[in-house]
This record gives sequence, C-alpha cells and structure tokens, in this order.
Amino acid sequence: MARILTGIQSSGKPHLGNILGAILPAIQLSEKSDNESFLFIADLHSLTTIKDAKVLQDNTRAVAAAWLACGLDTDKVVFYRQSRVSAYHTELTWYLSCLTPYPMLANAHSFKDKADRLADVNAGLFVYPVLMASDILLYDANYVPVGKDQKQHLEMTRDMAEAFNRTYGDTFVIPEGKIDERLMTIPGIDGQKMSKSYGNYIDLFQSEKELQKVTKKILSDSTALEEPKNPETDLTFKLFSLIASESDIATMRENYLKGGYGYGHAKQAFFEALKTRFAKEREMFTYYYEENPAALEQKLQEGEEKARAIASKKLAEVREKIGLS
Ligand code: TRP
Repeated sequence: MARILTGIQSSGKPHLGNILGAILPAIQLSEKSDNESFLFIADLHSLTTIKDAKVLQDNTRAVAAAWLACGLDTDKVVFYRQSRVSAYHTELTWYLSCLTPYPMLANAHSFKDKADRLADVNAGLFVYPVLMASDILLYDANYVPVGKDQKQHLEMTRDMAEAFNRTYGDTFVIPEGKIDERLMTIPGIDGQKMSKSYGNYIDLFQSEKELQKVTKKILSDSTALEEPKNPETDLTFKLFSLIASESDIATMRENYLKGGYGYGHAKQAFFEALKTRFAKEREMFTYYYEENPAALEQKLQEGEEKARAIASKKLAEVREKIGLS
C-alpha cells in the first residue's frame, strides 16, 4: 500500500476553477484508490506572505470547508492543518536545513521568482522548500501529487532525504512527485484561465443573487438573439458543458444552432445548472463555514491527532539518529 500526500495552499475561498480542476478530481482519486492518503492545509507556508491573523485563519477555514463540502471523506483521508502539527514540521525543518547547501535554496526558481516580485523577501520564503520537504518526509510519503510549478521543490525534497540517509543511515522514504498534467484548465468569465488574481472567477459559495450576477458577466459576442450561434467558440456554452448532463448539453447545442436563443438564455441556463449540480456542495459549505464551524474544527482535530501520531514517531527516530535523544 502506498502513501500519497499533498499540501494545499490556504489562499482563500476556492472558486469554480479550483473545484472542477483540482478538488473534485483529487477527491475522486482518493475514493478509488486503496492507498493511504494525507491532505493538509499548508498554513505555515502561507505565513511567508500573509501577515494578517484574521485573513490567515479565514483562508484556512474556507479551504477546509470547501474540501469537506465537495465530499472529502475524512475516514479515508487524513485531513489536517500543518500548523496544528507544527512542532514536528518546524523541528525537522531545522535538521534538514543543516544538511541543505545554501546555493540549492538560493537557486530555487520559485524563490528567485518571489524575490524578484515581492517587496517582502523574508527568510521564510528562502526556507520554504525545506519546510515542504519536512511535510513530506515526516509521513514517509511515496507519492506527492503536485502542479508543475512544484516539480523543483520535489527534487529538492528527494535531495534532502538522500543527504539525510547518507549521513545518518536509512531513515526517509525517497518520495516521487506526481506531476498532474491532467488537470483541466477552467476558463474564467473573460475566457482566460480562471484565477483569483485575474478577478475572472466564479465563486460557487456565494448567494444565489451574486452567483446569478456573475454568470451574466460571462463574455459573449454580439450575435443577435434571432441568429444562429456557434457553440464551439462560445464561452457560456463551454462553461455549461463542464457541469451539465449530456442531454442538457445536446439541447443547448441545438438551441444555439437553430437561432432564436440568446446568450442571456444560455447564461441563465448555466446559472440554473450551477445551482442544481452544486446544491449539496453549496449547502455543506455554508454548514461548515458559517453555521457550524465547530463541526469543521472537530473534523480537522481528528485528522490532526492521526497526523501527530505518525509525525511524532518519525521525529523520534530522527532525533535518535542525529544524536539528540
Ligand atoms: N508548496 C505547495 C504549493 O504551493 C504546497 C505544499 C506545501 C505542498 N507543502 C507541501 C505540496 C507538501 C505537496 C507536499 O502548492
């Protein structure tokens, strides 16, 4: 049985693009496999950029609520906040730091990129890959599904594990990155990739009124209502196709081709489809995020207990190997 582990950034309430492109496929995968899965919210990593306590806390809650609302089964997946198992992660970070050559971190793409872009170039950004390695190595993870941008961090994790094993004897599993090429890119309401930073996203977890408002803003051309329209090039049709049933998609295609069907009708149909397809998720998000945060807290704490049991054992082994026990 393999162990699969991945961390998610706590960068705020996930939008439709995150949900369709990452969250739902990951949950599906965790249901299918009989592997052991670990999924955590990397809120310690978020501290490198977020300095507002309320924002940090709220982002973490929103991310956790979204995963649970989308059906993550915490009996199958160990689900936790990195910060609540923090002692182990940060302690291992120090041990690994003492084995990590300075140039390896200084040359990391993501560090150089952030150092160029951000006003606040703190040491946390520099050590970021070591904390990430600790997240992975503490749990003897075999596979780490990540986006392309994290590939180098995975290579660094392997280097650190190998350096430790060479120095102190076999201790860590050498993890393998699983670069997820399959991830769909979901277009935003302007046709570019849906992204928080482009401001073109659809927040599934807002009121019906707001949801309807944003669907009305989806980019469309100026073909008149009476005229036939091309479903292949239209953004509303594309978005609708991502969430609607085969037969509803076929009906909309016919409507487009025959004319007398406006983009306004299509946008309304997309809005209705969002409500139907995600009724349960919308309801559960409200439950975990607003109505019953204690239920969310409890789920996380259960996961944290399981994570702590594993991490503390591994760290005890590490301390012994390096002469600190
Ligand atoms: N750095 C990852 C990202 O930006 C998040 C992350 C933190 C992570 N620790 C991890 C991913 C451990 C996988 C394994 O997406």
